[in-house]
Amino acid sequence: MGAQIIDGKAFAAKVRGQVAEHVAKLKESHGITPGLAVVLVGEDPASQVYVRSKGKMTVEVGMNSYEHKLDADTPEDVLLALIDQLNRDPAVHGILVQLPLPGHLNEDLVINSIDPAKDVDGFHISNVGLLGTGQKSMVPCTPLGCLMMLRDHHGSLSGLDAVVVGRSNIVGKPMAQLLLGDSCTVTIAHSRTKNLADVVRRADIVVAAVGRPEMVPGDWIKPGATVIDVGINRIDAPEKGTNEDGSVKTRLVGDVHYESAAAVAGAITPVPGGVGPMTIACLLANTLTAAARANDLPEPEGLTA
Ligand code: GUN
Repeated sequence: MGAQIIDGKAFAAKVRGQVAEHVAKLKESHGITPGLAVVLVGEDPASQVYVRSKGKMTVEVGMNSYEHKLDADTPEDVLLALIDQLNRDPAVHGILVQLPLPGHLNEDLVINSIDPAKDVDGFHISNVGLLGTGQKSMVPCTPLGCLMMLRDHHGSLSGLDAVVVGRSNIVGKPMAQLLLGDSCTVTIAHSRTKNLADVVRRADIVVAAVGRPEMVPGDWIKPGATVIDVGINRIDAPEKGTNEDGSVKTRLVGDVHYESAAAVAGAITPVPGGVGPMTIACLLANTLTAAARANDLPEPEGLTA
């Protein structure tokens, strides 16, 4: 029997709908419109696409979107002055500095200059520490999206064996913390893990976030396990032919080999259309949460960790 496909696109649309309802209520009852400021330094094409998409969806759920586009050679003190201004602006509840930053800018310094209460990416060291100690924090969007899908599929995650493949600060480590918070037995594995196949085979839940195309094959998956594929990798697809300029066509794949894994898993997220759409939905959810906290109002239920 094939795996149930977890439809992240539909789930994300549902989450955005819930966010929009809360935003409408905040406006009506309290006159508050949540605001998200996105800062983009330079002209990285992928980042430009993300930022445009974020801005569009922010407005669609009824929030204010503030975009700040700075030249690639912007000095660090100018960027820090902008963040300081956004930190002080009461109309701005969430601040996101798009990564990666140009090489002359100190990413850690920049991220840690954001007011932790407005750090909707959850990357500030204060939020990392709060999450690690089980305190109220801002939670990174991609792991939060994965957690929401897992809770939706399983109900309770308590006691399940979870293996996170990948140890990044943005996905692997916070994902492990969130799963621990939901009482999973958590292993963080990575490209250097001994007997990685055997480690993954123990898991009731596999979260793959290593950034290597189709690295996890189906025969590493325990029959019936839930597979969350965070990877988005573009690979050559010669079977699709060539483009007008003679270059080989490409396709998107995850960190999991989808066909073989879907044949044994109980449930699986596809790429594209799985985790990807959940990231922006959770960014909007975090902005709503930040706006509620800033005004001492109850947090939106089901939209936080
Ligand atoms: N670049 C790619 N993904 C992200 C993200 O989730 N947050 C930020 N700030 N930059 C990114």
